[in-house]
Parts: sequence; C-alpha cells; structure tokens
Amino acid sequence: MRPTGAGLAGHPDRDRWNSRYSGDFSPSFAPHPLAAQALSLELPAGPVADLACGPSGSALLAAGAGRAVTAVDVSEVALALLSEEARRRHLDRLITLVHADLAAWRPDPEGYALVLCTGYWDRALLDVAAAAARPGGLLGWEAFTTAALRERPGMNPGWCLGPGEPASLLPADFRVLDQADVPGAKRRLLARRAVAAPQAPGHGTRWRASGATQRQRCPGAGDRPAITPASVPAAWPCGVLAGAPPARRTAREAGKH
Ligand SMILES: C[S@@+](CC[C@H](N)C(=O)[O-])C[C@H]1O[C@@H](n2cnc3c(N)ncnc32)[C@H](O)[C@@H]1O
Repeated sequence: MRPTGAGLAGHPDRDRWNSRYSGDFSPSFAPHPLAAQALSLELPAGPVADLACGPSGSALLAAGAGRAVTAVDVSEVALALLSEEARRRHLDRLITLVHADLAAWRPDPEGYALVLCTGYWDRALLDVAAAAARPGGLLGWEAFTTAALRERPGMNPGWCLGPGEPASLLPADFRVLDQADVPGAKRRLLARRAVAAPQAPGHGTRWRASGATQRQRCPGAGDRPAITPASVPAAWPCGVLAGAPPARRTAREAGKH
C-alpha cells in the first residue's frame, strides 16, 4: 500500500478523517442500507464504485456478492481498515482501494453497475458519479439535508442537499426509484440509468426506461429482487492505486460529514 496518494500530503480532509479513524476507533463494517437495497435489485454486469467509502461494509457486501469493487477515500487509515477486513474475509482479490481526493478523482464513464456514495456530498461529484453508472445501472446516494444545519449551525451549507436534491439534479436519463428523507436530517436516493435501446434505422438514439417510472417515492417498484450474476474481472488486485492530483477546491466546498 502506498502511504500517501499523490498531492494528498497535508490535505485537510485526509488529516481530519485519518485522525477520526485512528486511536480507539472500531469500525462496524455494517453495510449501508442503501447498498443492501441496491444489491438486491437487478443490476447489469460490472463492478461497484463506493465513493467516500470509509471502512466500508458496503464494499464488503458487494464483494461478498461477487462484484468487483472500487473503493475510494481520501483517508488511507480508512482504506487500511477496509483492506485488513477484506483480507480476513478473503475478499481482497475483489476490492481495489483508491487513495484519492474525490474533487479530482475521475472514474471510467459508464464503468460501474452501481455507484454508491453515502455520508458525503459534493455537487460536482454527482455529475461524475452519474456518468460512471452503466446503462441500466444504479446510483445510490445519502447525505445531509439543510435540515441538519438546525442542529449543526456551524456546518457548511454547501455540504447539505437542498430541497428536492439530489434527484432534481440528475441527468435526464435517470429514473428515480426512491428518494426519501431518513432520520438524522439525511436524504437517500436510489436511481437507475436508462438502458439505450437498439437503434432503429433512420432514428436517433431512443431510451428505454429500466425499473420504475420517474417519481419521488416508489420503493422497489419495477425492480425484481434478484441479483444478476456479475462478470468479475480476472485481475482486480486489492491495493491502493495512485492518488489523484491536488484538489482544486478547499475542504469547505464539499460536504464531508
Ligand atoms: C461520513 S464518512 C462516510 C463513510 C461511508 N461512506 C459511510 O457511509 O459510512 C465520510 C467519508 O468521506 C471521506 N472523505 C472526506 N473528504 C473526502 C475527499 N475530499 N475525497 C475522498 N474522500 C473523502 C472520509 O475519509 C470519510 O471516510
């Protein structure tokens, strides 16, 4: 494991989260409910991206279901905790750890069957994450809403979802399966990217909805509770990839809970 991703020395988010995950911190490795929900739905073949993963039970759940996982975090302490647990569960072959600042890290477009981000909000990252979802794939997000500012008035409002967000910010080829406020002044979104229909001669690209029609709250509607067998790439070694270039934004510009 490389101890420091390029450009992350002295990064305020890295320092803050490294110290939070150090000392007597003991990770639960409980998967996020959104990960469990998403992985129970129909998904295309392909890997899962867990953004701002922390010592992620979600990544472990996805790997346990046979998915290759790319787990990204600015804290190498979190990644080390995840790595150790992945090895203990013999899942390390499936999990690629990426030590990077999400302000700069860029995933492969249409590279992931499921893109998950919980406990973190960055408006710009939503576009990047949405573009990383495969046609027919899912995007899952949970972050604070502005209601959290009542209890934490010092928090940067830029870390909080505004009314209707993030569903209202999704590209047009996404269908909202579920968006709901959850305890703790947070909002949870699950959305599916449309599958491109085969192009008929003489016609432009048409889109076929996969899953539920657009609405704010329709739990599970149109989705079958079955996991499509994933095609697992042969070589996804468990290790920390190179860090990303230095962030262009300050820590205060993105929502780190
Ligand atoms: C509230 S925790 C969420 C962890 C996990 N996703 C969960 O739901 O339990 C926020 C995570 O975001 C990571 N993080 C904060 N700023 C980041 C940044 N700029 N780039 C990448 N990860 C960051 C932290 O290291 C931390 O693990």
